[in-house]
Amino acid sequence: MSQAKTGIAKAREQVAKIIDDVDSLPSLPSIVMKLIEVVNAPDSSAEDAAALIQQDPALTSKMIRLANSAFYGIPRSVSSVTSAVVALGFNTIRTLVLGASVAQIFDGKHSLDMDRFWKHSVVTAMASKAIVRHLMGVRVMDPETAFCAGILHDIGKLILSQYMPGDYGAICNAAKERGIPIVDAENMVLGINHAQIGKILSDKWTLPPVLEYAIVGHHALDSLGETSHMANVVHLANIMAHDLGCNQWDGEACVPENPNCRTELKIGDADYEKIIYNLEISMEKSHEFLAVIR
Ligand SMILES: [Fe+2]
Ligand SMILES: [Fe+2]
Repeated sequence: MSQAKTGIAKAREQVAKIIDDVDSLPSLPSIVMKLIEVVNAPDSSAEDAAALIQQDPALTSKMIRLANSAFYGIPRSVSSVTSAVVALGFNTIRTLVLGASVAQIFDGKHSLDMDRFWKHSVVTAMASKAIVRHLMGVRVMDPETAFCAGILHDIGKLILSQYMPGDYGAICNAAKERGIPIVDAENMVLGINHAQIGKILSDKWTLPPVLEYAIVGHHALDSLGETSHMANVVHLANIMAHDLGCNQWDGEACVPENPNCRTELKIGDADYEKIIYNLEISMEKSHEFLAVIR
Protein backbone atom coordinates (compact mmCIF):
# COMPACT_ATOMS: atom_id res chain seq x y z
CA MET A 1 0.00 0.00 0.00
CA SER A 2 2.74 2.44 1.01
CA GLN A 3 4.65 1.37 -2.12
CA ALA A 4 1.60 2.25 -4.25
CA LYS A 5 1.41 5.64 -2.53
CA THR A 6 5.06 6.24 -3.29
CA GLY A 7 4.39 5.32 -6.92
CA ILE A 8 1.47 7.75 -7.14
CA ALA A 9 3.44 10.53 -5.45
CA LYS A 10 6.33 9.98 -7.86
CA ALA A 11 4.02 9.97 -10.89
CA ARG A 12 2.34 13.21 -9.70
CA GLU A 13 5.74 14.79 -9.23
CA GLN A 14 6.71 13.86 -12.77
CA VAL A 15 3.51 15.21 -14.25
CA ALA A 16 3.90 18.43 -12.23
CA LYS A 17 7.34 18.85 -13.81
CA ILE A 18 5.83 18.47 -17.30
CA ILE A 19 3.17 21.09 -16.51
CA ASP A 20 5.57 23.54 -14.82
CA ASP A 21 8.33 23.30 -17.39
CA VAL A 22 6.53 23.95 -20.65
CA ASP A 23 9.84 25.09 -22.18
CA SER A 24 11.13 21.53 -21.99
CA LEU A 25 8.22 20.27 -24.10
CA PRO A 26 8.96 19.97 -27.81
CA SER A 27 8.48 22.92 -30.15
CA LEU A 28 7.12 22.65 -33.66
CA PRO A 29 9.78 23.12 -36.36
CA SER A 30 9.81 26.77 -37.49
CA ILE A 31 8.87 25.77 -41.04
CA VAL A 32 5.72 24.09 -39.70
CA MET A 33 4.79 27.16 -37.62
CA LYS A 34 5.22 29.33 -40.73
CA LEU A 35 3.14 26.94 -42.83
CA ILE A 36 0.31 27.05 -40.30
CA GLU A 37 0.41 30.86 -40.53
CA VAL A 38 0.29 30.67 -44.33
CA VAL A 39 -2.64 28.25 -44.21
CA ASN A 40 -4.53 30.56 -41.82
CA ALA A 41 -3.87 33.77 -43.78
CA PRO A 42 -6.75 34.51 -46.16
CA ASP A 43 -4.53 35.98 -48.90
CA SER A 44 -1.99 33.11 -49.09
CA SER A 45 -1.42 31.34 -52.39
CA ALA A 46 -0.44 27.76 -53.23
CA GLU A 47 2.95 29.13 -54.30
CA ASP A 48 3.49 30.66 -50.82
CA ALA A 49 2.91 27.29 -49.18
CA ALA A 50 4.94 25.41 -51.81
CA ALA A 51 7.91 27.78 -51.38
CA LEU A 52 8.02 26.91 -47.66
CA ILE A 53 7.52 23.17 -48.13
CA GLN A 54 10.30 23.02 -50.71
CA GLN A 55 12.78 24.22 -48.10
CA ASP A 56 12.35 20.82 -46.42
CA PRO A 57 13.15 17.80 -48.65
CA ALA A 58 11.49 15.28 -46.30
CA LEU A 59 8.28 17.33 -46.21
CA THR A 60 8.42 17.78 -49.98
CA SER A 61 8.54 14.04 -50.57
CA LYS A 62 5.78 13.36 -48.01
CA MET A 63 3.57 15.97 -49.70
CA ILE A 64 3.98 14.40 -53.14
CA ARG A 65 3.53 10.87 -51.79
CA LEU A 66 0.32 11.85 -50.02
CA ALA A 67 -1.06 13.58 -53.12
CA ASN A 68 -0.40 10.38 -55.10
CA SER A 69 -1.60 7.94 -52.43
CA ALA A 70 -4.86 6.03 -52.66
CA PHE A 71 -5.91 7.74 -49.42
CA TYR A 72 -6.96 10.90 -51.27
CA GLY A 73 -7.66 9.21 -54.57
CA ILE A 74 -6.59 12.16 -56.74
CA PRO A 75 -7.12 10.85 -60.27
CA ARG A 76 -4.07 12.33 -61.99
CA SER A 77 -0.43 11.91 -61.04
CA VAL A 78 1.01 14.83 -59.05
CA SER A 79 4.69 15.64 -59.46
CA SER A 80 5.21 19.21 -58.20
CA VAL A 81 4.73 20.62 -54.73
CA THR A 82 2.54 23.45 -56.01
CA SER A 83 0.18 21.03 -57.74
CA ALA A 84 0.18 18.85 -54.59
CA VAL A 85 -0.84 21.92 -52.56
CA VAL A 86 -3.60 22.73 -55.07
CA ALA A 87 -4.81 19.11 -55.24
CA LEU A 88 -4.80 18.52 -51.47
CA GLY A 89 -5.89 21.96 -50.26
CA PHE A 90 -4.49 24.08 -47.44
CA ASN A 91 -6.24 22.30 -44.58
CA THR A 92 -4.98 18.87 -45.66
CA ILE A 93 -1.49 20.30 -45.84
CA ARG A 94 -1.84 21.54 -42.28
CA THR A 95 -2.86 18.01 -41.22
CA LEU A 96 0.07 16.47 -43.04
CA VAL A 97 2.70 18.80 -41.59
CA LEU A 98 1.26 18.58 -38.07
CA GLY A 99 0.82 14.79 -38.25
CA ALA A 100 4.32 14.24 -39.65
CA SER A 101 5.83 16.62 -37.06
CA VAL A 102 4.06 14.91 -34.18
CA ALA A 103 5.16 11.47 -35.43
CA GLN A 104 8.76 12.72 -35.67
CA ILE A 105 8.80 14.62 -32.36
CA PHE A 106 7.37 11.68 -30.43
CA ASP A 107 9.40 8.88 -31.99
CA GLY A 108 11.19 8.00 -28.74
CA LYS A 109 10.63 5.10 -26.36
CA HIS A 110 6.98 4.76 -25.39
CA SER A 111 4.96 2.77 -22.92
CA LEU A 112 2.03 2.78 -25.39
CA ASP A 113 1.93 0.52 -28.43
CA MET A 114 2.56 3.17 -31.10
CA ASP A 115 1.09 1.14 -34.00
CA ARG A 116 -2.19 0.89 -32.14
CA PHE A 117 -2.01 4.53 -31.02
CA TRP A 118 -1.65 5.78 -34.60
CA LYS A 119 -4.29 3.44 -36.01
CA HIS A 120 -6.72 4.71 -33.34
CA SER A 121 -5.80 8.34 -34.16
CA VAL A 122 -6.21 7.96 -37.93
CA VAL A 123 -9.49 6.03 -37.66
CA THR A 124 -10.78 8.68 -35.21
CA ALA A 125 -9.71 11.27 -37.81
CA MET A 126 -11.53 9.40 -40.60
CA ALA A 127 -14.62 9.09 -38.38
CA SER A 128 -14.46 12.83 -37.52
CA LYS A 129 -14.32 13.72 -41.21
CA ALA A 130 -17.17 11.32 -42.01
CA ILE A 131 -19.35 12.82 -39.25
CA VAL A 132 -18.71 16.37 -40.50
CA ARG A 133 -19.46 15.35 -44.08
CA HIS A 134 -22.68 13.76 -42.87
CA LEU A 135 -23.59 17.03 -41.15
CA MET A 136 -23.19 19.16 -44.26
CA GLY A 137 -26.21 21.44 -44.37
CA VAL A 138 -26.85 21.04 -40.63
CA ARG A 139 -23.60 22.42 -39.22
CA VAL A 140 -20.90 24.28 -41.11
CA MET A 141 -17.58 22.63 -40.30
CA ASP A 142 -14.58 21.84 -42.43
CA PRO A 143 -14.09 18.06 -42.95
CA GLU A 144 -10.30 18.40 -43.24
CA THR A 145 -10.10 20.36 -39.99
CA ALA A 146 -12.14 17.58 -38.38
CA PHE A 147 -9.63 15.05 -39.73
CA CYS A 148 -6.78 17.12 -38.24
CA ALA A 149 -8.57 17.30 -34.88
CA GLY A 150 -8.93 13.51 -34.91
CA ILE A 151 -5.23 13.02 -35.66
CA LEU A 152 -4.24 15.28 -32.75
CA HIS A 153 -6.97 14.48 -30.19
CA ASP A 154 -4.89 12.11 -28.01
CA ILE A 155 -1.61 14.02 -28.29
CA GLY A 156 -1.49 14.33 -24.49
CA LYS A 157 -1.05 10.54 -24.31
CA LEU A 158 2.13 10.89 -26.37
CA ILE A 159 3.59 13.33 -23.85
CA LEU A 160 2.76 11.06 -20.91
CA SER A 161 3.88 7.93 -22.73
CA GLN A 162 7.22 9.40 -23.83
CA TYR A 163 8.07 11.65 -20.87
CA MET A 164 7.10 9.24 -18.08
CA PRO A 165 6.99 5.82 -19.77
CA GLY A 166 7.31 3.72 -16.60
CA ASP A 167 4.55 5.44 -14.68
CA TYR A 168 2.27 5.79 -17.70
CA GLY A 169 2.77 2.11 -18.48
CA ALA A 170 1.67 1.33 -14.91
CA ILE A 171 -1.39 3.60 -15.31
CA CYS A 172 -2.37 1.78 -18.53
CA ASN A 173 -1.85 -1.61 -16.86
CA ALA A 174 -4.09 -0.51 -14.00
CA ALA A 175 -6.77 0.57 -16.51
CA LYS A 176 -6.48 -2.79 -18.25
CA GLU A 177 -6.67 -4.83 -15.04
CA ARG A 178 -9.64 -2.88 -13.66
CA GLY A 179 -11.42 -2.63 -17.00
CA ILE A 180 -11.71 1.16 -16.78
CA PRO A 181 -11.00 3.82 -19.44
CA ILE A 182 -7.41 5.13 -19.52
CA VAL A 183 -8.68 8.65 -18.87
CA ASP A 184 -10.22 7.51 -15.56
CA ALA A 185 -6.99 5.81 -14.49
CA GLU A 186 -5.06 8.99 -15.39
CA ASN A 187 -7.42 11.14 -13.31
CA MET A 188 -7.17 8.75 -10.36
CA VAL A 189 -3.40 8.45 -10.34
CA LEU A 190 -2.25 11.80 -11.73
CA GLY A 191 -5.18 14.09 -10.89
CA ILE A 192 -5.04 15.22 -14.53
CA ASN A 193 -5.70 13.49 -17.85
CA HIS A 194 -4.27 13.32 -21.36
CA ALA A 195 -6.84 15.79 -22.76
CA GLN A 196 -5.72 18.44 -20.24
CA ILE A 197 -2.06 17.66 -20.92
CA GLY A 198 -2.77 17.97 -24.64
CA LYS A 199 -4.04 21.50 -24.03
CA ILE A 200 -0.63 22.49 -22.66
CA LEU A 201 0.99 21.48 -25.93
CA SER A 202 -1.71 23.03 -28.11
CA ASP A 203 -1.21 26.33 -26.20
CA LYS A 204 2.53 26.14 -26.69
CA TRP A 205 2.08 25.42 -30.39
CA THR A 206 -0.64 28.10 -30.70
CA LEU A 207 -2.93 25.70 -32.52
CA PRO A 208 -6.20 27.21 -33.79
CA PRO A 209 -8.96 27.25 -31.11
CA VAL A 210 -11.07 24.72 -33.05
CA LEU A 211 -8.28 22.13 -32.69
CA GLU A 212 -7.54 23.06 -29.09
CA TYR A 213 -11.21 22.63 -28.10
CA ALA A 214 -11.28 19.20 -29.71
CA ILE A 215 -8.10 18.15 -27.90
CA VAL A 216 -9.06 19.41 -24.44
CA GLY A 217 -12.79 18.73 -24.70
CA HIS A 218 -13.05 15.30 -26.32
CA HIS A 219 -13.57 13.57 -22.95
CA ALA A 220 -15.21 16.49 -21.12
CA LEU A 221 -17.69 18.23 -23.39
CA ASP A 222 -19.41 19.90 -20.45
CA SER A 223 -16.18 21.43 -19.16
CA LEU A 224 -15.67 23.72 -22.15
CA GLY A 225 -18.18 26.28 -20.90
CA GLU A 226 -19.50 26.68 -24.44
CA THR A 227 -20.61 24.31 -27.14
CA SER A 228 -17.78 23.13 -29.32
CA HIS A 229 -19.19 21.13 -32.19
CA MET A 230 -15.69 19.94 -33.10
CA ALA A 231 -15.19 18.56 -29.56
CA ASN A 232 -18.56 16.79 -29.95
CA VAL A 233 -17.49 15.40 -33.32
CA VAL A 234 -14.18 14.04 -31.99
CA HIS A 235 -15.86 12.68 -28.84
CA LEU A 236 -18.22 10.64 -31.02
CA ALA A 237 -15.52 9.71 -33.54
CA ASN A 238 -13.32 8.39 -30.71
CA ILE A 239 -16.20 6.11 -29.63
CA MET A 240 -16.67 4.96 -33.24
CA ALA A 241 -12.95 4.06 -33.46
CA HIS A 242 -13.38 1.97 -30.30
CA ASP A 243 -16.50 0.34 -31.77
CA LEU A 244 -14.39 -0.61 -34.78
CA GLY A 245 -11.76 -2.25 -32.55
CA CYS A 246 -9.19 0.53 -33.01
CA ASN A 247 -8.07 0.81 -29.41
CA GLN A 248 -4.92 0.66 -27.31
CA TRP A 249 -5.39 -3.02 -26.42
CA ASP A 250 -8.04 -5.64 -27.12
CA GLY A 251 -11.09 -4.95 -25.00
CA GLU A 252 -9.89 -1.51 -23.79
CA ALA A 253 -12.76 0.15 -21.91
CA CYS A 254 -14.13 3.15 -23.78
CA VAL A 255 -15.37 6.32 -22.11
CA PRO A 256 -19.18 6.47 -21.96
CA GLU A 257 -20.86 8.57 -24.61
CA ASN A 258 -21.97 12.02 -23.44
CA PRO A 259 -25.80 11.90 -23.59
CA ASN A 260 -25.99 15.35 -25.22
CA CYS A 261 -23.44 14.66 -27.93
CA ARG A 262 -25.66 13.15 -30.64
CA THR A 263 -28.45 15.62 -29.86
CA GLU A 264 -26.07 18.55 -30.31
CA LEU A 265 -24.85 17.09 -33.59
CA LYS A 266 -28.31 15.96 -34.71
CA ILE A 267 -27.08 12.41 -35.34
CA GLY A 268 -29.63 9.64 -34.90
CA ASP A 269 -29.01 5.91 -34.41
CA ALA A 270 -29.48 5.20 -38.12
CA ASP A 271 -26.95 7.94 -39.03
CA TYR A 272 -24.47 6.49 -36.55
CA GLU A 273 -24.86 2.99 -38.00
CA LYS A 274 -24.49 4.29 -41.55
CA ILE A 275 -21.25 6.15 -40.73
CA ILE A 276 -19.83 3.12 -38.90
CA TYR A 277 -20.76 0.85 -41.81
CA ASN A 278 -18.95 3.08 -44.33
CA LEU A 279 -15.95 3.44 -42.06
CA GLU A 280 -15.66 -0.31 -41.69
CA ILE A 281 -15.28 -0.54 -45.45
CA SER A 282 -12.81 2.35 -45.78
CA MET A 283 -10.72 2.13 -42.62
CA GLU A 284 -8.17 -0.18 -44.21
CA LYS A 285 -7.01 2.92 -46.09
CA SER A 286 -5.73 4.33 -42.78
CA HIS A 287 -2.38 2.64 -43.38
CA GLU A 288 -1.92 4.71 -46.57
CA PHE A 289 -2.01 7.91 -44.54
CA LEU A 290 0.16 6.43 -41.79
CA ALA A 291 2.77 5.25 -44.28
CA VAL A 292 3.26 8.87 -45.34
CA ILE A 293 3.31 10.62 -41.96
CA ARG A 294 5.31 8.08 -39.91
FE1 LIG B 1 -8.65 10.62 -25.50
FE1 LIG C 1 -8.88 8.59 -28.48
